Amino acid sequence: MKKVYIETLGCQMNKSDTEKILGMLDYLGYEEVCELKNKDSADLLIINTCSIRQLSEDKAYSRIGLWGKWKKDRPELKIVFCGCVAQQDGKEVFKRAPYVDLVMGTHNINEFPDLIKRIENGEKIIANDETPIEEKDFPLKRTKGVNAWITITEGCDNFCTYCIVPYTRGRERSRVPEIIIKEAKEALEQGFKEITLLGQNVDSYNKKEISKGEIGKEINLAYLLRKLNSFDGDFRIRFTTSYPADITDELIDTVVNCEKVCEYFHIPMQSGSSEVLKKMNRRYDRETYAKIVKKVREKVKDVTITSDFIAGFPGETEEQFNETLSAMREFELDYSNTAAYSPRRQTIAAKREEFFLSEEVKKDRLERLNEQNKQNCLASNQKYIGREMEVLVDIFLNHKGKNILTGRTRNNKIVHTPYDKDLVGEFITVKITGAKTWYLKGEII
Ligand code: SAH
Ligand code: SF4
Ligand code: F3S
Repeated sequence: MKKVYIETLGCQMNKSDTEKILGMLDYLGYEEVCELKNKDSADLLIINTCSIRQLSEDKAYSRIGLWGKWKKDRPELKIVFCGCVAQQDGKEVFKRAPYVDLVMGTHNINEFPDLIKRIENGEKIIANDETPIEEKDFPLKRTKGVNAWITITEGCDNFCTYCIVPYTRGRERSRVPEIIIKEAKEALEQGFKEITLLGQNVDSYNKKEISKGEIGKEINLAYLLRKLNSFDGDFRIRFTTSYPADITDELIDTVVNCEKVCEYFHIPMQSGSSEVLKKMNRRYDRETYAKIVKKVREKVKDVTITSDFIAGFPGETEEQFNETLSAMREFELDYSNTAAYSPRRQTIAAKREEFFLSEEVKKDRLERLNEQNKQNCLASNQKYIGREMEVLVDIFLNHKGKNILTGRTRNNKIVHTPYDKDLVGEFITVKITGAKTWYLKGEII
């Protein structure tokens, strides 16, 4: 059997694509190896890349330098460079990494089996079409674990001025409900205990199709959640990412009424300043965001709300940055992903060079943002001390001579519980005994 090693950078979209690629390779007779020791560890090396920030892009190229050296000694080794940087850079990849055999963008993933056969026959290929090649019914090879990711929308039409995703992933498209439901059923049959519906903006699932009259208006995200909730068995349902302006009352009510749908919303705010949000082309202001968070908190008991923020967007003043810090505090955001602004090719904000802030200013703001984030996380975790919570166990490991179960509550809090038996994939009830910044401590009851 031939061996493949695949390294996945970036977001869940890429992880989900990796599962698709591994499914196709399984069919072609490849076996996955998880460790890459030397040039003989695998016959096919794949890197699935991310270009959300300059740092992620640089990482993609630096990772494969060694693979190029190996190929000099072992010319039959095949190297594939795929994902968002491949979509964006196309033939430029060959300039920077001439030893790559296949550059495959995000739109060509469905023709991967044909492309692999061609590189096996010695061809060198660039496949980064502007429009997606239609989906074929290939089984996925899901990464082992308790959670199965199911893509419901691909691409994005929002064109936030800083963001590369609409360029690397193309226009927003919704996958048909029958395929999503079938994949969910298969995942549950395989023993997964959690299903997460995935998209850059899950709330707009089928929105285009509904507005064009191609599909009934009831077939939206809330419909999918209700449908999955009706399946038998003990499992959880999640969805991510929510665009603040697109969260509907129907969606919030569905979370409340469906017992398997978890009390967790990821609602990236990006900036606390309405002026900056406008420059980012986000379709909401601070007040609108405040109203949504308030509504979600009022209706959904114990809800966790997480967010993303960018520090140092071009032209951001110290005052506007302080509005971001105050937003994090005021909305009591339970956790936030943070990043310093990184100019991305093709995007509107990257053209406003005269407004760029210095690296020092961005670094300083990012540090302050991270400090606020830590305070928020700790305060959020402390609320749960003394409570009994349901935990789905993800990991069982020995830490400094002690066996520990790590899992997540329904509202996505990480809990560490000392216990001697491997209970991965099981639901346990835990009493919360302590709170750290990034996790809770518990005792099994
Ligand atoms: N669709 C999601 C975000 C996907 S990208 C949404 O709309 O919220 C994930 C995160 O990366 C974004 O939320 C943003 O905070 C960050 N990001 C995107 N482009 C960036 C850039 N150019 N510089 C810094 N951070 C960026
Ligand atoms: Fe990027 Fe904005 Fe689309 Fe999110 S909504 S993927 S930040 S363009
Ligand atoms: Fe995801 Fe990175 Fe692409 S965040 S969509 S892998 S640019």
